[in-house]
Order: sequence, then C-alpha cells, then structure tokens
Amino acid sequence: PFPWYRTCLSQGTVLRDETSQSWDVFGYEEAQFILRNHAHFSSERTARGQGGPGNYAPSILNLDPPRHTQLRRLINLAFTPKAIAAFQPHIEAITASLLDDIVKETGGKAGEIDLVDALAYPLPVIVIAEMLGVPAADREKFKRWSDLLVEGPADLRAETLADLVARRAAGRKELDDYFRDIVDVHRQKDDNTLIGALIAAQIENESLSLEELISFCVLLLAAGNETTTNLIVGAWRCLLEHPETMAMLRENPALVDGVIEETLRYYSPVQATSRIVTQDIEVGGQQFAKGDRVVVWLGAANRDARVFEDPDQFIPTRSPNHHMAFGHGIHFCLGAPLAKLEARAAILAMLSRMEDISAVETVLAPIVSGFVYGVKSFPIEVAW
Ligand code: HEM
Repeated sequence: PFPWYRTCLSQGTVLRDETSQSWDVFGYEEAQFILRNHAHFSSERTARGQGGPGNYAPSILNLDPPRHTQLRRLINLAFTPKAIAAFQPHIEAITASLLDDIVKETGGKAGEIDLVDALAYPLPVIVIAEMLGVPAADREKFKRWSDLLVEGPADLRAETLADLVARRAAGRKELDDYFRDIVDVHRQKDDNTLIGALIAAQIENESLSLEELISFCVLLLAAGNETTTNLIVGAWRCLLEHPETMAMLRENPALVDGVIEETLRYYSPVQATSRIVTQDIEVGGQQFAKGDRVVVWLGAANRDARVFEDPDQFIPTRSPNHHMAFGHGIHFCLGAPLAKLEARAAILAMLSRMEDISAVETVLAPIVSGFVYGVKSFPIEVAW
C-alpha cells in the first residue's frame, strides 16, 4: 500500500473514493482529529457484520460512549498494566519453549524455518489463552476459531462469500457456547485469570453482562492475535532488511524498544480503521455529510512527511515517534503493552539464542486484506 499512500498524500490529505462511496483520510493531523472526535465519528457500525447473523452484544471496539466508557472502565480493572507486566515471565517461558521446539526441528544445527508457523503465530495465541484461563488442551480449537475470525474471502479459493459468512457464523456460535461454559466454570471458583477478573469487575453496581464478557473474549482473539504475529514478523523483516540495525541490536539489546516502535510505524499491522459521520462536518477542506463512511489510513498517517522526516526510511532511533499504529483517542488499543511485551520477548530470545539469522526469500506473499498488513509466511535460515 505504501506507494499508493505516497501518491494519495501528494494529491491531498482527504480524498473521495467514488467506488466505495466513502472518504479516505491519509493525513496524520486529519486522522488524529477524526479518531479524537468520537461524537462526530461513530464506531457503532460494523457490529452486525462481525460474526455474521446472530444476536451478539457489540464489543467495545464497536461501541460509542456512554456504554464504551463504562465497559472500558470495567475492563481496565482486569486488564491493568500491572496484570500484563506480571505475565512477562510466562511470555518468556512460552517463547523459550517454542524456541526449544525449533531447536528440535532443526536438530540443533542450521536449518530453515517459517517464522510465522514456528513462533510469531503460536506465541500470541498461547499467551492470550493462558491469560484468559483457557485449558491448554483446548488450544487447537482456539487457534482454529481465532483463524476463522480474521480470515478474509481472499484466502479462500473454492469457497463463495456466502460459504465464508456461514462458516464464520458457525464458528462464532461455537465460540460463544465455548466461552459460556468457560465463564460458568470460572464463576464457581475465585481465580486470578483474566476471565475471573472480568467476572469480578464492578464499578458502582455496574458490571459486564455475560454477553458483553463473551464479546470481549471474542474480540481479544480477533484483535490481538494476527496483529501481534504481524508485528513480530514485521520487526524481523525490518532487521533483515537492515543488517546494520541487527548488528547494533546485538551490541545493544536496549535498542529493541526503538525497533518495535519503528516497525509499528513502518509496517503498521493495522493499516486502517473506519468511522461513520454523525453530523455534517468539514475535514481537510472536504465536506463530510451525516451517514458518510470514513476510512482512516493509519498506515498512511504514519508516513505523513509533515510529521515524520524521511517517512519511507526505517529509523529505529527515531525520536519522537508518535505513530498511530495502535489508534488514537478513546479506542486506543487496549493490548498495546501486551503486544510490545510479546514482540520484545520474541526478538530478544531469538537474538540471544540464534547465532545467525538470514532471510531466504526476498519476495513474500502478502496477507490479502483491506486493513491488515503482513505476510503469510516468512522463511528464514537460522543457526544455533
Ligand atoms: C483496539 C491495533 C494488539 C486488543 C485497537 C485499535 C488499533 C489496534 C489500531 C483501534 C481501532 C479503532 O480505533 O477503530 C493493534 C495492533 C496490535 C494490537 C497494531 C499488535 C501489534 C492487541 C492485543 C490485544 C488488543 C494483543 C489484546 C490482547 C484491543 C482491544 C481494542 C483494540 C480490546 C479495542 C479498544 C476499544 O475499543 O476501546 N488495536 N492491536 N490489541 N485492541 Fe489492539
């Protein structure tokens, strides 16, 4: 998408897309204005499309205040920075065990692996399953549901869109039933899992309904897994495209945070989000009307030359680096600290255990999606 952003940004910060009858927002300032101004730009629009037919509670991602504010406050009681930080040793242990599996697979010597399959994909799924308190034995099922929630029609060959919608609705139903049972189990015992904390969360007699709790668990699967996979893979693509950065990082592991921030800007895992206009308003010299759909291109805003010098260069020491990869305003990504912790663990563990890491192919198959950015597989050569 990056050359396209460059062309669009040279034509304006806000452009009309006649084909899809919506507005495309590319400029950083305009994107920030829209995401901050939730009264004019609503998130309550895609809830019905989320799981196909069915009567599910919208997740916080698709809610506006006041319910968004209430739910987010309740969830914040459970999903605290402290709770996430306390999970760090688990993340490191899971990473180490996935690396042990790779050692076995390569016989402890040099060999080729797919970074996606071997580490970047399983890590976030296992982490969120453990955090939620899902039994380890259910992980395979969990993985399948997680895939089903994010796969787009472009991944499918022989299947029609109607089949996909039906399959996704069936998956959403299975997931719903599954979480209903899990919540029941956790209700009966006092535990320190995320689900336990969410059940217990209460502010002034307000709590999450069972439906809201389930929708939140489903959102965690849909929003947190593939994005984190793509961050880990994106960071390794950047490191292998910039051997001097990799050498610097081996010398000075503290640089890892800068590498992660710059990867988020440069290869933003979520390239776009959308809103619906609630009242006529002008943005970037364009007149938006009530009901219009607006696509906010976070990936373009992150390469706006008015804010980022040399935006098409990967500069891990960039400071400040106020990218919008996690969004902005009231819907700012709840999982940002967790995603960064996982990326940090994956990068540092690979660097310290692998003597040599190199790319095998220069041309990679992209994930076909309107808003997710990443590659389907990333073969690399590793030596221990
Ligand atoms: C919201 C990106 C990982 C949970 C968002 C939004 C973005 C985003 C852009 C805002 C969407 C909007 O305003 O419409 C990312 C990226 C990730 C990542 C790039 C990884 C690199 C995670 C993880 C979790 C998570 C690991 C949880 C385990 C959420 C939730 C929201 C959200 C719950 C909704 C917050 C709200 O509506 O108030 N994420 N995310 N994300 N993300 Fe993430």
